[in-house]
Amino acid sequence: MSLAPQELENNASTYASEAIKLDSQGARGMAITNYQKAIDSLVKLLQLYPNSKLNTLYKERCNSYHKRINALQQSHGVDPAVDPKASPEEQKASVQRQDDENDFEELVMKERPNVSWSEVIGLDDAKSALRESIIYPTKRPDLFPLGWPKGMLLYGPPGTGKTMLAAATASEMDGYFINVDASSMMSKWLGEAEKNVSKLFRMARKYAEKESKPVILFVDEVDSLLGSRNSEVGGEIRTKNQFLTEMDGVNGKGKDLMLYVIGATNKPWSLDWPFLRRFQKRIYVSLPTEKARESLFKQYTSDLNLSPRVNSSELASMFDGYSASDIKDVCQSAHLKTVHELFDSPEYHEPVEGEPPQKPRTLTTADFRSIMARRKPSVSTEMIRAYHKWSEEFRAL
Ligand SMILES: Nc1ncnc2c1ncn2[C@@H]1O[C@H](COP(=O)(O)OP(=O)(O)OP(=O)(O)O)[C@@H](O)[C@H]1O
Ligand SMILES: [Mg+2]
Repeated sequence: MSLAPQELENNASTYASEAIKLDSQGARGMAITNYQKAIDSLVKLLQLYPNSKLNTLYKERCNSYHKRINALQQSHGVDPAVDPKASPEEQKASVQRQDDENDFEELVMKERPNVSWSEVIGLDDAKSALRESIIYPTKRPDLFPLGWPKGMLLYGPPGTGKTMLAAATASEMDGYFINVDASSMMSKWLGEAEKNVSKLFRMARKYAEKESKPVILFVDEVDSLLGSRNSEVGGEIRTKNQFLTEMDGVNGKGKDLMLYVIGATNKPWSLDWPFLRRFQKRIYVSLPTEKARESLFKQYTSDLNLSPRVNSSELASMFDGYSASDIKDVCQSAHLKTVHELFDSPEYHEPVEGEPPQKPRTLTTADFRSIMARRKPSVSTEMIRAYHKWSEEFRAL
């Protein structure tokens, strides 16, 4: 049975956080195992969905876990690029400098993800908030004498398009996109997270100053870095405070710089008020509406062989409560069901030259209904209530 993308992504996050915890406790072997498992989940995700728009992000995460594994395996190895005549301190500093630069430059996305706004279904509030805060001021900074919001928090249930929205923003603008997911950030920067937070912001400012192009610093799963309920071991409080100070810099004296910080989380309640208030826009990325579900079904069945009797508005009302990513999985499962049937049928044979290859049968509404019976929505109604309650208090558009 294949795992759904959301599950694979969640597995990867779980393994990564576990790895980081172990890493910070000095349990090197176990940390490596968990980083490896996180990589395995991401690789599966890449293989199962080779065309997923988020693959650039996932590949970067794999790379950063790989790097950490290598670093753990050869800790105390010598860097050959060091000048042997330099003093030990100089050598050490030089290694450090190179590491810093490499570490940070690699976070800047050279290759843009190819997600367009139109592929992100629904979420009109979120899209216009991002557009108004990023695209307009970039075009006409003179129209914003009081500045404009620089910190944006995307929050909402898993699988609703937060990461996808950030990717779409990156692909639609002419600027730099710096992608850090908070878990790999902590793992790479163990013990040095505080110092590195300021380096990260310094690099972002450098890019923004150099080319006067907008720079987006996207911190995915931001709660794992800043959650107030986390056990505050290993300087996490200091790291968080450093982050807050840097955010003040972005909002305050750097107010004419085109530097934005977008955070994403599905656990907004674990963020405290000092953190929240620095994100002036707090945007709820909700489950899809019925209309959005209809478009999602259209989008994700467009390459499938559907019976003409299947009606996407009927599917939309059947799948109330399902997230965008659930709907994608449902379409995939329905299709896989017909592919398995084809392979299992006694008439199945390998493709023969000169004959058109056998195709799976058309998909019917009954297929979707049978998937629905086996697959519940990944977000419970209690969870939705919790998001609504949090929104009433903290949402800010
Ligand atoms: N609004 C949407 N429109 C179209 N597809 C979507 C949308 N939201 C999610 N998807 C599909 O679901 C997949 C997962 O979405 P994404 O990773 O953006 O969710 P997320 O909100 O970041 O979840 P999490 O909180 O777990 O990180 C996407 O790759 C995309 O295929
Ligand atoms: Mg995400």
